[in-house]
Amino acid sequence: MRHVSERERELPEALIGRMLEIAVQRKDVISLGPGEPDFPAPKPIVAWTKKFAQFNHYSPPGGRKELKEAIVKKLGKENKIRCGPENIVVAAGSQEALMLALQCTVDVNEQVLIPDPGFLGYTPSVELTDAVPVPFTLHEKNKWEIDPDDIRKAADRKKSHALIINSPANPTGNVLSKKTLEEIADIAVEYDIYVFSDEAYEKIIYGKKHISLASLNGMEDYAITLQTFSKSYAMCGYRLGYCIAPKDIVQAMTKIHMYSTICAPTISQMVGAKALQMSSKYTQAMVKEYRRRRDLIVKRLNELGMHTVKPEGAFYAFANIGNFSKDSFRFANTLLKKAKVAVVPGSEFGKNGEGYIRCSFATDYRLIEHAMNRIEKFLK
Ligand SMILES: Cc1ncc(COP(=O)(O)O)c(C=O)c1O
Repeated sequence: MRHVSERERELPEALIGRMLEIAVQRKDVISLGPGEPDFPAPKPIVAWTKKFAQFNHYSPPGGRKELKEAIVKKLGKENKIRCGPENIVVAAGSQEALMLALQCTVDVNEQVLIPDPGFLGYTPSVELTDAVPVPFTLHEKNKWEIDPDDIRKAADRKKSHALIINSPANPTGNVLSKKTLEEIADIAVEYDIYVFSDEAYEKIIYGKKHISLASLNGMEDYAITLQTFSKSYAMCGYRLGYCIAPKDIVQAMTKIHMYSTICAPTISQMVGAKALQMSSKYTQAMVKEYRRRRDLIVKRLNELGMHTVKPEGAFYAFANIGNFSKDSFRFANTLLKKAKVAVVPGSEFGKNGEGYIRCSFATDYRLIEHAMNRIEKFLK
């Protein structure tokens, strides 16, 4: 009998999509919803895209040689990750890389530990792999830094097979310290599990240093690192990301890639290889502006009575709405209707995200000012 699969039916619908659709359609709404840079791609990227327009063929499923070589150089220089092209798989965004890597490392009903609150892609990705997401709690009072004991509390020596960490983090803006990463490395060895290190926002960081888990001693066999061109180079629509993993996992991912998207877009790969060699001034200019907006939005949210930990990275302010509501979906919906400001309910990011809203500052400075004025008026 024809039917939609149970796998799909059980997948929660992302409310974020519906809310942002409304926000985009309605010109009177200011959206603090975006999960992508509001900046256009840097000029050299646009020029290279035109130059490489004739690259209309498939690439090898693991990625083009020149891109892999550029990635290897970048990893050595910027992330202190020593690896070769045999450790890289290029994919259509880091989200696709995550799906491929999960498919290659966890079996049906095995557990994957995920941060809560955490990026809303993790639970569905694990469930689509027919594995079981097990949340570990993050606390506002710890400035959203992972407490390794919370991972231990959630972990099961037999059933847990992987752990996902994300730094800089969406939605909290936390950047993991070296000490925490070292403790996570110890957990990986102790439980003998892979650690997926989602580093999508590695360059969107305000002062603190980004450390890749894979650069720590002994982590080369445990770390599965995910990086992307989406945020650092404002190239979301190019769909280009990559994974750094042990050779056997890379081989398995490359095999599966052949049966999913075949390869990442070839034009994007050509552009990506150049982007990695581009001056850092383009990313730095974006980060400088994000920082200005961050300082504004965090100050205003705190003044409004929504306690917000200052994000150390990424472009989201995760505001505590406890003084106003217990129901983040209802609160976000009311803000949309009454104040005409779109935000994302914290419950979208897990059970522990309830009681918060995510406000993206990948939005023009003046619009953020207007949005805060509207919220202030609404709350009075
Ligand atoms: C934490 C995090 N990881 C991964 C992604 C996916 O990025 P992409 O597939 O564009 O590389 C996102 C997108 O918003 C994200 O916020």
